Amino acid sequence: MNVLLTGGCGYIGSHVAVVLMSEGHDAVIVDNLSNSRREVVDHIAQIVGRPPTFYQGDVGEFEFIRDVIRRHRIDSVIHLAGFKSVGESVQRPLQYYQNNVCGALGLLHAMEAESVSSLVFSSSATIYGDPQYLPVDEAHPQHVINAYGRSKLHIEDMLRDICISRPSLGVICLRYFNPVGAHPSGLIGDRPNGIPNNLMPYVVQVACGERDFLSVFGGDYRTPDGTGVRDYIHVMDLAEGHVAALNYLSTNNGWHAFNVGTGRGYSVLEMIRAFEGESGRAIPYKITARREGDVACSYADIRAAALELNWKATRSLEDMCSSAWRFQSRLSKA
Ligand code: WQD
Repeated sequence: MNVLLTGGCGYIGSHVAVVLMSEGHDAVIVDNLSNSRREVVDHIAQIVGRPPTFYQGDVGEFEFIRDVIRRHRIDSVIHLAGFKSVGESVQRPLQYYQNNVCGALGLLHAMEAESVSSLVFSSSATIYGDPQYLPVDEAHPQHVINAYGRSKLHIEDMLRDICISRPSLGVICLRYFNPVGAHPSGLIGDRPNGIPNNLMPYVVQVACGERDFLSVFGGDYRTPDGTGVRDYIHVMDLAEGHVAALNYLSTNNGWHAFNVGTGRGYSVLEMIRAFEGESGRAIPYKITARREGDVACSYADIRAAALELNWKATRSLEDMCSSAWRFQSRLSKA
């Protein structure tokens, strides 16, 4: 299939591009490079053995994106382009709604104009807010508490309404838990601009000496060791989940949402120990105050995706850590 991959130069997007193309699909990447790098296109080509098509541009520009869809006879869209920092969204909600929600609207208008009827949307477990029960299933109440999560929920709800008006449309919202790790080649991985917000890229930078120590945000949560527990999923498992979703839409219409996690939670201290084991590097850390907005514990109920998409994560915590370290080690040598 000809698949339009918005945000395809990003962390998740580049791994989805590799899996898509490795399975014989043609990927057309649109990315405005606001939080990614053009060189990723070359790394994808190096891994797959052929280049994806790439356009630098904004997914919300109707005429531009409609022209790309028409020119490449796009069959399906995987929409990942969007701002994704929870903390930043609290400071800059307007920019998050403009970029994420209005960007999605431009894409959806273009899809309708060109009769594209298959969409996989990058959503987030953030829409659930503080879990009221665990594991979190897709029916969990949606008590979103920040503009990033709310932008994702607005898009999910828009898609639900559009599916009612267009019965031929098939949509899957994939609710990500905590993606970590990198492609085994070490050529692509998580490379945030500036100081990393997320745990794994920060740990990696401590391991290679870019940061002196890790601040562990809170050691007094009601968890086994007092530190936050999350459902970390290998980015390659996550990428394969997107292709499984695309395959599901080849025979199913309507609106669907699935959690994409492993169903297992690990604490910050467990992550530190696992990373030290895989990298052979010590990770100095200090327990500091809790981070505003953090929840104690979150992990996914993964039965729906296993049953409907015939997909589940298979890679281990060790794989997540060793692949993240391999990517960083290659970067450090570059
Ligand atoms: C994980 C754990 C922190 C950094 C966020 C978004 C979510 C998704 C993934 C987009 C927590 C602790 C972290 C640090 C720490 N992004 N931590 N020191 O907050 O679960 O989820 O990223 O979809 O939407 O909300 O991930 O990696 O920031 O934190 O102790 O320097 O690590 O308190 O317990 P989070 P995270």
